[in-house]
Amino acid sequence: MNTTPESPRVTLDPGNWDELRAQGHHMLDDMIDYLARVRERPVWQPIPQAVRDRFRADLPREGTALAQVYDEFVHYVAPYAAGNVHPGFMGWVHGGGTAVGMLAEMLAGGLNANLGGRDHAPVEVERQIVEWVRRLFEFPEGASGLFVTGSSLANFIGVLVARTAALGRGVRKAGLGEEGGKLRAYASAAAHRCIPLAMDLSGFGSDAVRPIAIDESGRMDLGKLAEAVARDRAAGLVPFLVVGTAGTVDTGAIDDLEAIAGFCRDENLRFHVDGAFGALAVLSPELKPLVKGIEKADSIALDFHKWGQVPYDAGFVLVRDGELHRDTFASPAAYLRPNAKGLAAGAPWFSDFGPDLSRGFRALKTWFTLKTYGLDRIGRSIAHSCELARYLEGRVRAEPLLELLAPAQLNIVCFRYRADDEVNAKIVVDLHESGIAAPSTTTIRGKLAVRAAFVNHRTQVCDVERMVVAVLRLGAAAGARPRLR
Ligand SMILES: Cc1ncc(COP(=O)(O)O)c(C=O)c1O
Repeated sequence: MNTTPESPRVTLDPGNWDELRAQGHHMLDDMIDYLARVRERPVWQPIPQAVRDRFRADLPREGTALAQVYDEFVHYVAPYAAGNVHPGFMGWVHGGGTAVGMLAEMLAGGLNANLGGRDHAPVEVERQIVEWVRRLFEFPEGASGLFVTGSSLANFIGVLVARTAALGRGVRKAGLGEEGGKLRAYASAAAHRCIPLAMDLSGFGSDAVRPIAIDESGRMDLGKLAEAVARDRAAGLVPFLVVGTAGTVDTGAIDDLEAIAGFCRDENLRFHVDGAFGALAVLSPELKPLVKGIEKADSIALDFHKWGQVPYDAGFVLVRDGELHRDTFASPAAYLRPNAKGLAAGAPWFSDFGPDLSRGFRALKTWFTLKTYGLDRIGRSIAHSCELARYLEGRVRAEPLLELLAPAQLNIVCFRYRADDEVNAKIVVDLHESGIAAPSTTTIRGKLAVRAAFVNHRTQVCDVERMVVAVLRLGAAAGARPRLR
């Protein structure tokens, strides 16, 4: 048997590159068509059981022709995606991605770069983005940043850096101890669930973050924050961190970041901002004032895969004090020691700033997106999604059968058909199954709300209109007896 290194039985490269090229071009053309014609498709459709069953197959010991595997993708994967590329997708906080980002993903896959460290241009691309983000948020030189999966991880890193600031890098070896057990953090009651999770994962326990009541516009009540901090100090506990939210997941409310920054300065607390989607409001001149004060944060979590429209995943964390950030993660290991020259040069490495050693090239799709569209155009698309929210708010206010539960704060509107929770839950499920639109639900002041979040750059007024008309039709079809005003 021929097992020389050249044997196609050993390498995974194709025996015939031209065949691969033809198949690759076909796949690329298909995906470009998929995006170009996305509006013609349903937003989402349920996965038939027979299709689900296909993903319970035996281990594929033998190979299958690429064309055949692709055929399975075409028939059983692509039609049953979540639909966040579709303009009718209005659920949760999902970005729409772009064709440019998709092409960049292909290039990144080809290079197969590992951005944990070493001296190569992909690392410089990520450094370029760190520098751009630093300037965007007016952080000083010496600030650090890195790509992570998403804001869940970016917020976790923010909490870990705050832990180092409070307890020194010794905490990494010795654990929290008695001193660490007294530390308390504060975030609005509307903060994302990943904040208590970050406290849990950091060893503090999720109870160590105090949920601070929100005012009627969904922002952290700063009087209540001051009371909670004073109460904890009086009880012998040690406040160390306030997490402000730029864009709450439920309603899009933005905490008063400027005031929180002042409070943190006066009280000697660290200030972290969860700006998962709201932070990129800085790209729009009209919206930028809403996040005023974000530039005073000690650290910021944000996602390029939401309002930045970079394909998943592209979370990012920015830290004012790069040394502190590095102290939180760097550890010496002989086999990872950077050199002054050669491929093993290029210190500090990104693996010194986060938990991942192997890291993909998320920076490339972000670099392509930012360069190809330019920040101003992305800012305009962000502002447009807020205009859509205002349009929907106006539409709901004008329609007697609909009730506004949370006005458009940013890009999110919560409303409902004037009927009970059960009817509204059914309307949303029916909407999803109709393929017309995919809003999500939340609870506002005890009432189940239809929650429309405009994140996708493809969504237009006509899509909002289709959703409203469908809600009215499905509400009537649900046999609801609407309670008119
Ligand atoms: C305010 C907020 N914070 C954090 C997250 C978590 O971000 P990710 O899903 O990128 O981990 C989200 C997600 O929607 C969010 O809206």
